[in-house]
Amino acid sequence: MASGRVDLDGNPINPMTICMIGAGGFIGSHLCEKLLAETPHTILAVDVYNDKIKHLLEPSGGGATSSWADRIQFHRLNIKNDSRLEGLIKMADLTVNLAAICTPADYNTRPLDTIYSNFIDALPVVKYCSENGKRLIHFSTCEVYGKTIGCFLPKDSPLRQDPEYFVLKEDASPCIFGPIDKQRWSYACAKQLIERLIYAEGAENGLEFTIVRPFNWIGPRMDFIPGIDGPSEGVPRVLACFSNNLLRREPLKLVDGGESQRTFVYIKDAIEAVLLMIENPARANSHIFNVGNPNNEVTVRQLAEMMTQVYTKVSGESPIESPTIDVSSKEFYGEGYDDSDKRIPDMTIINRQLGWNPKTSLWDLLESTLTYQHRTYAEAVKKATSKPLAS
Ligand SMILES: NC(=O)c1ccc[n+]([C@@H]2O[C@H](COP(=O)([O-])OP(=O)(O)OC[C@H]3O[C@@H](n4cnc5c(N)ncnc54)[C@H](O)[C@@H]3O)[C@@H](O)[C@H]2O)c1
Repeated sequence: MASGRVDLDGNPINPMTICMIGAGGFIGSHLCEKLLAETPHTILAVDVYNDKIKHLLEPSGGGATSSWADRIQFHRLNIKNDSRLEGLIKMADLTVNLAAICTPADYNTRPLDTIYSNFIDALPVVKYCSENGKRLIHFSTCEVYGKTIGCFLPKDSPLRQDPEYFVLKEDASPCIFGPIDKQRWSYACAKQLIERLIYAEGAENGLEFTIVRPFNWIGPRMDFIPGIDGPSEGVPRVLACFSNNLLRREPLKLVDGGESQRTFVYIKDAIEAVLLMIENPARANSHIFNVGNPNNEVTVRQLAEMMTQVYTKVSGESPIESPTIDVSSKEFYGEGYDDSDKRIPDMTIINRQLGWNPKTSLWDLLESTLTYQHRTYAEAVKKATSKPLAS
């Protein structure tokens, strides 16, 4: 049955069933919302947690006129050891695998868990898709590129300014990681190996696949604010770390001077790209896609400064006297930490295949995210302080 929607080539899009593994996380929650709001597709949502998609599972989800809950089914299972996984993949037309340990603070402190999660646990998903003739969209990472070629050139080399030495291309750039004792690369290396396995399954066994390499997608619901909507201990990714510091009026910690350069893309822009991949298999299959915003490049120090300005605007609070402090990576992340110097995605392939371009400026995406976090924090504090005192 056609849905009235058409793909980029004008062909009707039939409603499909999507097995989304890791649906309860940051990206999964936005992808579920988008699919339910704008498409007729059905979701088999697999995760160990569902806090971020609870609002979609309730019968009232989608507003008074249309309940979304009948098009999303939550399956609480750990893909490490649950025999129900293959059945769910078989029931679906497409599997989207988002499940992973993907927080930098874990890569050098929990390297075994990181490698198991990103390689070993993803293996059965690839195998079941390949054996059952099912399409797979697998989430990898821009970290597979590792360091740029440019960072090995002398500091004063004019070639450092040449994009050939730093812009990251899916079909041309090498993957450059540090030595084995720099355990930070456990994540990137595991993701690279699963990419190679998926690619080989495509080449040798005809698996229909798409690989996504996100470049720092950020927005509401990313990670957790320690002690508010997540554990008190633990170090989330940079956006949540800085937000946490701003909400608690603490200085933002800049690791090794905050010199690393990153490009940030708004989650809602990035999800548009994923929806195009889902609904345009003929254009997306057998491709690896960078999904990022090359126009939103800043150093981590500049990100901290901009977040401080945006937070001042959305909260009405003046900044603290020393808004940032420097810490070493060893102090912040422990032994074995290392980092990519710069991450700028080449957009040629995604432009050509899917005509996708990001829209949202860094300032606007930070404003939307910090407004959300400021509100969530205020509500949590209000709830905590209005609890009756224990007698
Ligand atoms: N957010 C980004 O900018 C970014 C950047 C690079 C790569 N990625 C990749 O995108 C994917 C999703 O990232 P995210 O930001 O939504 O992360 P996230 O941590 O918010 O979501 C991952 C989800 O997977 C679930 N999960 C993990 N292991 C599982 C298991 N064994 N069984 C069932 N569920 C399990 C977690 O509970 C979580 O809800 C990951 O593969 C990540 O490596 C994201």
